[in-house]
Amino acid sequence: MGTVVSINGELFDPKSARVSVFDRGFLYGDSVYEVLRTVGGEPRWLDEHLERLARSAEGIGMVLPRSPVEIARLVHAAVRAAANEDCYIRIIVTRGGGDIDLDPAKAIDPVAIVIAKPLRLPPEDLYRRGADIVIVAVRRNLRQAVDPNVKSGNYLNNILALAEARRSGAYEAVMCDREGLVAEGSTSNIFAVRAMTVCTPPLETGILDGITRGKVLALCAHERIPVREQPLSPDDLRSAHEVFLTASIRGVLPIRSVDGRAVGEGCPGALTARLMSLYADQMASG
Ligand code: PDD
Repeated sequence: MGTVVSINGELFDPKSARVSVFDRGFLYGDSVYEVLRTVGGEPRWLDEHLERLARSAEGIGMVLPRSPVEIARLVHAAVRAAANEDCYIRIIVTRGGGDIDLDPAKAIDPVAIVIAKPLRLPPEDLYRRGADIVIVAVRRNLRQAVDPNVKSGNYLNNILALAEARRSGAYEAVMCDREGLVAEGSTSNIFAVRAMTVCTPPLETGILDGITRGKVLALCAHERIPVREQPLSPDDLRSAHEVFLTASIRGVLPIRSVDGRAVGEGCPGALTARLMSLYADQMASG
């Protein structure tokens, strides 16, 4: 049981896993990545994560050094070698190294990394009592800058947002777009239940097309739960009956307060609890 790092297919223990200081991932955050988990030892929704990895690479003009099928092989090999009951998996592809030069055309030797480590989920009681979130001053990137729908290793905005939230004792930060409309969490998508309708910002706001977000929207459609992908103002979020966030490792996580104000009448709310259960079933069955 443990952590295994695959670098271009070669397996290392975490202490001896090394990349060059000239790697552009290290120098500039010039990389793309994915985070997923295994269920019963099997990487869950790996194909969808690999498709998004390819889209992210395309979004920054990076040519993936290996095909999705080859990357899937690397993932399976790392998971097997880590031999955990279940794994947290991080796939990272950097544009590589070369001379110190911003020009991506100068990049050589791209690196494909897979980290497989024991899966640690948030504590059970966080799902029972709900998490506290705050809307922070740090803004989500413009789509015309580093498009938030590119899952790149350039996370400084999100780091600053989370640091702001943690200073006020909150679990997660919610960032707004340039217009001041709710975008997403630092590493999560955000949902509000208003008038018995599940509302979430549309992709056009400039957010990551979260795999968990997509699963939740599909579950709502299947269960005929009304959904609206619509812009949300900070007040819409603060006055919602229920709020929850989604992310691959955390699944559906209920929110008990926004900016210090209690959400609805008790946490998790009825629709959130239903979606938590439906999502858990789908996660278990694939
Ligand atoms: N983050 N938005 C952002 C900015 C994210 O970084 C993530 C995921 C999500 C949720 O996407 P998904 O449902 O596909 O995991 C939304 C991962 C979990 C991370 O960085 O750890």
